[in-house]
Amino acid sequence: MANENLSKAKEAKNDEFYTQYHDIEKEVSAYLEYNPDVFRGKTVLLPCDDPEWSNFTKYFAQNFETFGLKKLISTSYAPESKRYKFGYVPTLFETEAPHFDADKSKTHGKIFVLDHDVTGDGVINFEDLEWQYLEGDGDFRSKEICQLRDEADFIITNPPFSLFREFLAWIVEAGKQFLVIGNMNAITYKEVFPLIKDNKIWLGATGFVTDMVFGVPEGSIVKESDKKKAERLGYVGNYTRLGNSCWFTNLDHGRRHQFLPLMTMADNLKFSRHKEIRGKEKYDHYDNYDAIEVPYTDAIPSDYEGAMGVPISFLDKYCPEQFEILGIGLEMANMDIIKKKLGKLNGGPRLYVERNGELVRLYERILIRKKQ
Ligand SMILES: C[S@@+](CC[C@H](N)C(=O)[O-])C[C@H]1O[C@@H](n2cnc3c(N)ncnc32)[C@H](O)[C@@H]1O
Repeated sequence: MANENLSKAKEAKNDEFYTQYHDIEKEVSAYLEYNPDVFRGKTVLLPCDDPEWSNFTKYFAQNFETFGLKKLISTSYAPESKRYKFGYVPTLFETEAPHFDADKSKTHGKIFVLDHDVTGDGVINFEDLEWQYLEGDGDFRSKEICQLRDEADFIITNPPFSLFREFLAWIVEAGKQFLVIGNMNAITYKEVFPLIKDNKIWLGATGFVTDMVFGVPEGSIVKESDKKKAERLGYVGNYTRLGNSCWFTNLDHGRRHQFLPLMTMADNLKFSRHKEIRGKEKYDHYDNYDAIEVPYTDAIPSDYEGAMGVPISFLDKYCPEQFEILGIGLEMANMDIIKKKLGKLNGGPRLYVERNGELVRLYERILIRKKQ
């Protein structure tokens, strides 16, 4: 029974999570609000997006003229190359096309291009998408997709979760503007955090707190609790919620320039809504790094000039004009001090504070300082 469960779990390990139209619209609107011409005259590549499934393709095709796009390219991954095989059946859109090929349909990726009015109805929209089979399977790392990447101004998608590091590196090495969905845990990756620290990438406009719900193929094995949560949010059927999803981008949006309203240190110690702060004499100071511990973003003291450790969720509120990022606990914590005190280490590098004579290992922290 245990083995059966394990193999089921492995089966379920897949990359097929389809983004909701509403989530895309909400996020992209923030960039348009900040700069209405952000996409004008530009080429957008959606490199993991089968238009028959993808709301990214639908959204950008429907708004082609409103955004003033020059070209929209959407490529899809061959069904037989996918980690999760779900009884693929080509759509009528594909089978009714004169160039339909039953073999290529399974083994080749497809490319959809939108750049002019094909139907002659005077508007450029979804109806005008033209498609071909790709030479290969549509792997974003293949030469033909790399060429499309190089031609594009923007790379936008929800990429395969299992290849997130590689996917981000693929965008960054080409110096492209991008907007992608990832997991919040990616913030701490050694390939990702330095880019966040240097303000080369940041979190999108939709906050962490938003529960993103994704479509899944019929028969996918998803966590029952996530499925229930999706149902409570109004998505019944083949949906799941992935709680830690968030957007990563290097496109500017207004929210990241809004200063966080904060209280002084004295006021926090007197009036904070958090019992860990209110009524204390001072903030805790780490044992293994010269910074104070701030367990909640809204408890950051507005008048403290030194280094402060804050939860990762701070990034959701991070305004680069208000704070600078010094590093992450994982890299900055002095573990020699801890080893000397404890005699041994309990896990990887982390910041510690002493409470009631005991060393407490904290959750991961980001170290910040007020902008001088
Ligand atoms: C998380 S899903 C998102 C799909 C779509 N972008 C959306 O948001 O609805 C990622 C998609 O990437 C595809 N994929 C997996 N590995 C890929 C690769 N190496 N190159 C291109 N696409 C890949 C998966 O089959 C899957 O359809």
